[in-house]
Amino acid sequence: MDAPATSNRQTVIPARYFYDEDVFAIEQKQVFQSTWQFFCLKTDLQNNDDFVAHSVGGVPVVVQNFKGKLLAFHNVCSHRYSPVQTACAGNRPLACPYHGWKYSDAGIPIGIPHNLDFYPISPEEKPKLALKSFLVETCGNLVFVSIAGGRSLREQLGEWHELVSRIGAGVEDLYFTTSLPADCNWKFAVHNAFDDIHAEFVHPSSSLDTSVYTGAHWRFHPLSADEDPKSDYSKRHAQLSVGMNAETVERNEKLWTPWFPDRRFPFDEYLHLFLYPNLIITSVQGFWYNIVRYDPVSAGKSEMTNWLVPSASASGVSKATPELLYRLALGSLRIFGEDVQAVESSQRGIESVTRRGILGRREDKIAAFEEAYMHVMGEEPSLERRTA
Ligand code: FES
Ligand SMILES: [Fe+2]
Repeated sequence: MDAPATSNRQTVIPARYFYDEDVFAIEQKQVFQSTWQFFCLKTDLQNNDDFVAHSVGGVPVVVQNFKGKLLAFHNVCSHRYSPVQTACAGNRPLACPYHGWKYSDAGIPIGIPHNLDFYPISPEEKPKLALKSFLVETCGNLVFVSIAGGRSLREQLGEWHELVSRIGAGVEDLYFTTSLPADCNWKFAVHNAFDDIHAEFVHPSSSLDTSVYTGAHWRFHPLSADEDPKSDYSKRHAQLSVGMNAETVERNEKLWTPWFPDRRFPFDEYLHLFLYPNLIITSVQGFWYNIVRYDPVSAGKSEMTNWLVPSASASGVSKATPELLYRLALGSLRIFGEDVQAVESSQRGIESVTRRGILGRREDKIAAFEEAYMHVMGEEPSLERRTA
C-alpha cells in the first residue's frame, strides 16, 4: 500500500478481507458463529411444530416450537445429511423428508421408519445420533440463536439490553418482510450503517429535510488498549439518536398515531441502532421498526432482509393494515436499494486498489468497527501467513 496522502486516518481492514473466500471462511467462525445472531420474529414460532430454518455463520439451523418451547438444532439429518426442515419456515414435525426419521425435542431420532428391517438402530444408540443443539433466546418478540454459546444474550447486548428488550416487547406479531441480494461483502453494509454522510448524495429524493433535526448523538465504544474484543462483544454496538424539532414530532404524532395508537414504546427521535455484527434496527418515534439483517453469503455477496414491524398497541390490537405495512416496506426498500447500489460500487472498486481508504472525523464509528474486527480476525495464524 502507498503512503497516506492526507492526515486523516486510513481504513484498517485490508482490501482483500472484502473479497477473499479464505478470509470469509474464518470470519464465519470468528464473527458469526461466536455471536448471538438475530434469527427471526417469534411471530413465526407461535404454534406447536412451527419452525424457521436459516443459516448462522454457514451452519444450517432450525428453530422449532415443541409444545411452546423454542429449541434450536443443526438442520442436517443424522442419517445422510438432508436438511430436516427443507423450507425457510412452516409448520410440521421435526422429521426428515428423505427417509422419514423423526426427531424428539432432545434432537434424538425417536421414529425411524422400518428401523428393524433397514438398519437396525438400538434404543441405546439413538441418543448418540442426536442432532447438535444450539442456544436460543428471545428478547420480547425477537428470537436470537448462538452457535458457540459461552455468553448470554444479555451479556452480548450489554448496555443496550434494556433498549432491545423494550423494542422487542413493543412490536406487534404481524410484519412485512423483504429481501434484497447485494453483490458486496457484508462489511460494506456495516460501513454504510455507520455512515451518516451518504444520505444527502445517495438518497437525495428520500432524505428528510435536515432543518427539522435538532442534533445527532452517537453512542459507541472505540476499542480500548486493555480490552479483549473477543470477550466483550457488548462494546461493539452503536446507537445514533437524532432529535427532531417539536413541530416535526407533533406532525408525526398526528399523522401516524391513528395507525399506531397507544404504542408501547414511544420516543421523540429517530433511532438507528447497530447491533454487532450485522443487525440494524431503525424507527421514527417508535411507530414502526425496520429490523434489518445483513447475511454474509460469500466473500463478495450478502443478503439484506428487512422485517417491517409495527409497534404494539398497549390498549389493544394495532390498526396497521397489511396494505399500510406493504406501502411502508416499499418505501424502505427503495432506500435500501439505493444503499445496495452504493455499496456494490465500493465492492467493484476494492479489488483493484493499491492504497487504503480514508476515514474522516465523522467516520470514527467505522474505524472503531474495523479495529475491533481486525483484533478478532488478525490473530488467525493462517491468515497472517497469507498476508506475509
Ligand atoms: S437423510 Fe434424513 S432420513 Fe435419510
Ligand atoms: Fe442509506
